[in-house]
This record gives sequence, C-alpha cells and structure tokens, in this order.
Amino acid sequence: MGSPAGSDFDFTFLEEGLCARDIVEQKINESLLSDDKDAFYVADLGDILKKHLRWLRVLPRVAPYYAVKCNDSRAVVTTLAYLGTGFDCASKTEIQLVQSVGVDASRIIYANPCKQVSHIKCASAHGVQMMTFDSEVELVKVASCHDNAKLVLRIATDDSKAMWRLSLKFGATLRTSRLLLERAKELGLDVIGVSFHVGSGCTDPESYYQAISDARYVFDLATKLGFTMTLLDIGGGFPGSDDTKLSFEEIAAVINPALDKYFPVDCKVRIIAEPGRYYVESAYTLAVNIIAKKVIMNEQSASDDDVAEDRSLMYYVNDGVFGSFNCVLFENGHVLPTLHKKPKPDEHLFPCKIWGPSCDSQDQIVEHCSLPDLQLGDWILFENMGAYTVTLSTTFNGFQKTEIHYIMSRTAWQYMQQVRAQGLPLLSEEQGGVGSVLSHCGFENFLEVPNSCLREVHTGPGLEAYLKGFNFTGEPPWLTDTC
Ligand SMILES: Cc1ncc(COP(=O)(O)O)c(C=O)c1O
Repeated sequence: MGSPAGSDFDFTFLEEGLCARDIVEQKINESLLSDDKDAFYVADLGDILKKHLRWLRVLPRVAPYYAVKCNDSRAVVTTLAYLGTGFDCASKTEIQLVQSVGVDASRIIYANPCKQVSHIKCASAHGVQMMTFDSEVELVKVASCHDNAKLVLRIATDDSKAMWRLSLKFGATLRTSRLLLERAKELGLDVIGVSFHVGSGCTDPESYYQAISDARYVFDLATKLGFTMTLLDIGGGFPGSDDTKLSFEEIAAVINPALDKYFPVDCKVRIIAEPGRYYVESAYTLAVNIIAKKVIMNEQSASDDDVAEDRSLMYYVNDGVFGSFNCVLFENGHVLPTLHKKPKPDEHLFPCKIWGPSCDSQDQIVEHCSLPDLQLGDWILFENMGAYTVTLSTTFNGFQKTEIHYIMSRTAWQYMQQVRAQGLPLLSEEQGGVGSVLSHCGFENFLEVPNSCLREVHTGPGLEAYLKGFNFTGEPPWLTDTC
C-alpha cells in the first residue's frame, strides 16, 4: 500500500487484487501485536466512484447534489467534488466545508427550508444563491438578508412508508404553495423551482411519481404567477446498498417515466436530486472489538441437555448507538453483524445481544442474533455503515469517534484524476456509454442489477446529451448552466 503524492486528501492505495475486506483483515492482524483494539472503519472511496457512474447510467437526466449531512468526511466530499457532483448543504458549516475543497457556489443548494438568519447572510456573502423554503417567515427572512436568492419551494410528500419521515417537519401543501408563491411575488423574490423529499430509506417508489406530478402542478401555478421555473429537485431517499427490498434501479424505473411525462426533455427544466445514503452507505465497513461478555443462564430451560436453549450470550463492543450505530436509535434501524472469523460448519450458535460500550441501557446495537461463543478481543464486522453514522456519532461517556481508514484502488484514482482534469470521457451510446468507460477502468461488475430492471431504465437523450456535453475540457452541462 502507499499514499497518493500531491493529492489534497488522504487515503491509502489498495493494491491490485485486494478489496476493503482484505484491509479490514490486515488492520485486525496488526492489532494482534498491540493492546490497541479500538473500533475502526475502512472506507473505500472507489465505491463512491462506482456509485456515481451507476447514477449517471440509471438516472441520466438527474444531476446529483450530494447531501453532506449524510457523511461529512472530508475525503467523501473531496471525492465527489473531483467527480463534479453538486452539493446539498444544510448549514453554514457544510457550505464552508464544501467550498473549502474548491466547489463553486453555483454547485451548492442550501436545502434547509428553515435557516438561521446569520447562515443565510453567510450563504449570500459566499455566493450561494439556490435555497429552499416552505413558509412565509422564511421568505421574509430571505428577502431581508440575501442579495440575490434563487428560491426553491419545498413541497410535502407522502413519506408514510419511508424509514425516516421528513414531511412531518418540512414541505408546503399544494394549497399553501399558492399562498407562498403569491407572497414571494409581493416581496419581489425569485422563485426558480420546486423540491421535495420522499423520506430517507424510501420503500414506495410511487411516492416519487406522485411528488413529481405535484411538482408539475406547482410549476404551472408559479408560471401563471409570472415566475420563470427552471429547476426541479427530487430530493433523496435512494437506497445505499443492494441489501434493500427496493433497488435503486426499481426506483429509477418509476422516476424516469414520471420525469418524461411531467418534465419532458424539451421543457428545459434542470433536474437535480439530493442523494445522501445512496453515495456513501456501502463504502464503509466498521470493525468493532468485543470488550466484555456475559453468559445468561436461562432458568426455564426445558432439559439439561438442551444446550441451545439453556443460555444466551451478551457481547459488549467498543462502538455503540451513541457512536457509529446512532442510526439504530434514530431510524429504529437494524444492522447486521458478520463474523471476522468464519464459524465452523457445525459450530453451535447461541441467541445473542450486542451492546455498545456506554453505561446507558439504550445502548443496544442488536437485540436478537445468533452467534457462536466468541471471546474477548474477537472482532465483529458491520458492512454498509457509511450513511448517518459518522455525522451522528457523539462522544457520550467519553468514547471517542471511531477512526476511518480511507482506501482507493489505483485504477479508481487514475480514473478520478482523469475525470477531474478532463470531464467524463466522451463515449457515445454506440461505443458503450458509461458502461464501457467502467469496463475500461476495471469496474465490470459495477452494475450487478437484474436485467429486468435495466430494461425499464431510461437510456434516452439525457445520457447522450450529458456525455456529448463533454469535450474533455468542459464541466458537465448541469454545472455550467445558470439557473
Ligand atoms: C433536505 C434533504 N435532502 C437530502 C437528504 C438525504 O437523504 P437520503 O440520505 O435519503 O438520500 C436529506 C436527509 O435527511 C434531507 O433532509
């Protein structure tokens, strides 16, 4: 392994033939030689690149503006900045972070409908113009403290089936939207578009369809009131790994026809999204160490030889729900432990609970699972840990945030450098489009998706237009467009 010389972010090169899991293994082996058995992450930045290319292929008309709140690691933000995505920022600090890695203000949407005045002023001072709103009070604030805001009206959605609901807190109804647009007109503000969020961890793709149709209604309303509407923002909610019931491709198979119906290519509306989880979840693997253990005897055991029933095990590990597993508290989420040492085929499994290290009894990571009889110092791994983990973790009880080791293959690094310097390579669909770019870069397997989904995916003029927009020197068209 080695590090890239002269780059402005830190990661270690992954040698040919190795994967993130091998690096986890190496770190665990190194830990055998010392007392330091702190929990750690391995984050594969190449996985983010693969996700980006998959996005371009599957949602070709939609420009991603990464939601920084999901994972604000500098390495993640820098990777996406190299790849040319935009950014959804929720606060002054996120705007500063994104701008500190060289992202232009035109690539930022300040997508928090309820903002502190000083943060609006900061956005104005730093040239960030696009921002969302969903109330009259926000309009009045923006009118008084921003010089040239381009406002995006956030509408409510049916997010009742999402893992994390957001429309309980944000989003105007269609009726309120009319009143807000009228008020914006009175205040002399420039409303340029509509945004929505179907909730994080969306399980019902129809909610995108309905929201896109509602957005069309608001567009027409706003146009009648004299606004020039040029931006549709379809928010986040996309899955971050392939372990979910609803795949990214299945969601896209609903979004693409809805866009074609309500916002056809020739209507010249720029379409963006604010994916968070999608980009980062699968890039991170977390390794935790067993620091304590209890054997709980089941006093109501049926018989003495019924070994399986007579005891359960409680493992205590060195990261918990007040740290990286905060999603368990927040999302009522479930995380899946995997073993570092493969169990023998006939190894006995016990009912287990896994607890975090703090003194709080809510600090339970897994309530029920089946694991072998592990020992102190053994490691348990959790995959898909990149979303809402590092940003939500606290130092409750004095436990420090878990260290992250970033890795990337040389192929992915070279490809990223090329994209950064020249834009995406110009390849027509006949030449194989993005898929072909990937196979040239050793990413043949990036699209392990069912053919049935792929057939439904839109591959129309959007992708070609996008690819043809590059001359190896320019920015992607969505980044050079003005609103
Ligand atoms: C305004 C906004 N945009 C984008 C996101 C990212 O959502 P996801 O991680 O589901 O893609 C969130 C998540 O809370 C959000 O509040």
